Amino acid sequence: MTGLRDALRAAVGERQVLTDGDLSAWQIDQRRRYHGRALAVVRPGSTAEVVAVVKACAAHGAAIVPQGGNTGMVGGSVPDASGTQVLLSLTRMNAVRQIDAANLTMTVDAGCVLQTLQEAAAAQGLLFALSLAAEGSCTIGGNLSTNAGGTQVLRYGNARELCLGLEVVTPAGEVWNGLSGLRKDNTGYDLRDLFIGSEGTLGIITGATLKLHPQPAAVMTALAALTTLDAAVRLLQLAQARLGAGLTGFEVMGEFALGLVRKHFRQLAQPLPRAPWMVLLEQSDSEGEAHARGQFEGLLEAALEAGLITDAAVAESIQQSNVMWHLRESIPLAQVEEGSNIKHDISLPVSAIPSFVAATDAALMHSFPGIRLVNFGHLGDGNLHYNVQAPVGVDPARFLRDNEHAVNELVYDAVARHHGSFSAEHGIGALKRDELAQRKSPVALGMMRAIKAALDPQNLMNPGRVL
Ligand code: FAD
Ligand code: MLT
Ligand code: ZN
Repeated sequence: MTGLRDALRAAVGERQVLTDGDLSAWQIDQRRRYHGRALAVVRPGSTAEVVAVVKACAAHGAAIVPQGGNTGMVGGSVPDASGTQVLLSLTRMNAVRQIDAANLTMTVDAGCVLQTLQEAAAAQGLLFALSLAAEGSCTIGGNLSTNAGGTQVLRYGNARELCLGLEVVTPAGEVWNGLSGLRKDNTGYDLRDLFIGSEGTLGIITGATLKLHPQPAAVMTALAALTTLDAAVRLLQLAQARLGAGLTGFEVMGEFALGLVRKHFRQLAQPLPRAPWMVLLEQSDSEGEAHARGQFEGLLEAALEAGLITDAAVAESIQQSNVMWHLRESIPLAQVEEGSNIKHDISLPVSAIPSFVAATDAALMHSFPGIRLVNFGHLGDGNLHYNVQAPVGVDPARFLRDNEHAVNELVYDAVARHHGSFSAEHGIGALKRDELAQRKSPVALGMMRAIKAALDPQNLMNPGRVL
C-alpha cells in the first residue's frame, strides 16, 4: 500500500497524511467501544483535495471512512482493525463560506464545528437552531451524515430540516454541487435527502447550505418536578397548547439519571429537590421577556393547579438557565463515569411512552435482576435514551458483553410492539447494523442496497456501516 500512501501525500501534502504516532483520537470512538487501525489518517483542506483522495482510494480499491468530530454514538466514524481503510478527517475544512441574512441561509464547509456555526449566525443576529451536548466538537458534516436531532427538534426539526443544499464528493470522485439556498425546488429526486442520514456510505459531504431563523427576543428555561411519566406527557400537551411553536425544548430526566449526575459531578447546583421525574422546558418568544415570562409562568401555574407537576423553578438569568441545561447535558458524561451501559436511542409515539416504560421496566427487572435504568431524553420528540446500567457490584464491561444481545432483543421487541424505532437520532453505524438487517422491511432494505450499489459499486464508502 506504499503506492496509495504516496498518492495520498500527492493529493493533500506530506504533512496531512498521518501514519505514525498516536492516532487514537481518530481510531477510537468516543464511547471507546471500537478500536480501529487506519492505513492512514488523511486531512484534506479543500473539496478539490477530497476529490483527489477519493480518486486515489478508488484507483487502489481502498475503503474510506469519513470522520468529523468523532462524537458519534454507533461506531460509524472509526476504521476497522484491518489497517487497510483510509480515515478521511474533514476538520481542516472549517470555513463559513457565506451568510445571506436576507435569505436566512449560511453556506459552510462540512468540517465546521457546530458551535462555531451557532456563533457565526448569532453574530449576525440570527439563529442556527441545531443544538446538542457535543456541539463544541461535532461537525456539521457529521450532523448531516447522521441526521442529528438534539434538544430543539420539536420546534426546528432534525438536521435534515435545517439543510437546504449540499456539496458532495461522490464515490467516483465527482463533485455534486447542490448548494442551493432554495426553499422550493421540485426538480426530480431529492439527492440532498439521500445523502443526509447516509452516515458516509454514499459519498463525502464537503459543504452545506443551512437554514437560519431570526433570534428569539427572549428565551425562558424552567425545571419542573413530576411524580409520573404520564404527568410528563400531559404536561407536554398542555405546554404545546399554551405555547404553540414557542415551545423549543422539552427534555425529560429520570431520578436515577440525575442521581448519576449528582454522584459524579458534585459541584453542579441542584435547582430543585429530588423527584421521580424532572422536565426541562424551554420557551422562545419573539415578543420579548415580559410576554414570555407571563406565558411561561402561566403555564407552570396551570400545571401545578392541575396536579401535573409538584414543583418548578424558572431561571431568572442566563446563568441559571445554563445550570439547568448543564444538569441535562451532563447525563451522558455521568453515565461514562459510572461505566459502560447498554444504550438505546428509541422513538415512540409520545402517547405510548408511559405504557412502554412501565411494561419494559418490569420485563427488564424480571429478566435481569438488579439492573438500573437510566432514562432520559427528548420527550417532546418521543425520543428516549433508555439505557441499561449493570447491577451494583457487577463489572459494567462484563455485564455489557454477556447481556447486550438479550437486553436489546427485549427492548427492541417492545419498541416494535409500540410502533416505535430502534434508532431515533444516533443512526446505525456498525453498532446497529444487525438490528437494521433484522428489523427493517425487506422491501426497504432492497431499495437501500440498490441505491448503495448504484452510487458506490466498489463499496468503498464506509463499508460495513449501515448495510
Ligand atoms: P462523526 O462522529 O465523526 O461521524 C458520524 C458519522 O457520520 C460517521 O458514520 C461518519 O463516517 C459520518 N461522517 C462524518 N462526517 C462526514 C462527512 N463530512 N461526509 C460523510 N460522512 C461523514 N446526537 C444526536 O442526534 N442528538 C443528541 O442530542 C446528541 N447528543 C450527544 C451528546 C454527547 C455528549 C455526545 C458525545 C454525542 C451526542 N450525539 C447526539 C451524537 C453525535 O454527537 C452526533 O451524531 C453528531 O452529529 C456527530 O457529528 P460528528 O462530526 O462527531 O460525526
Ligand atoms: C443526548 O441526548 O444527551 C444524547 O443523544 C447522548 C446520549 O444518548 O447519551
Ligand atoms: Zn439525544
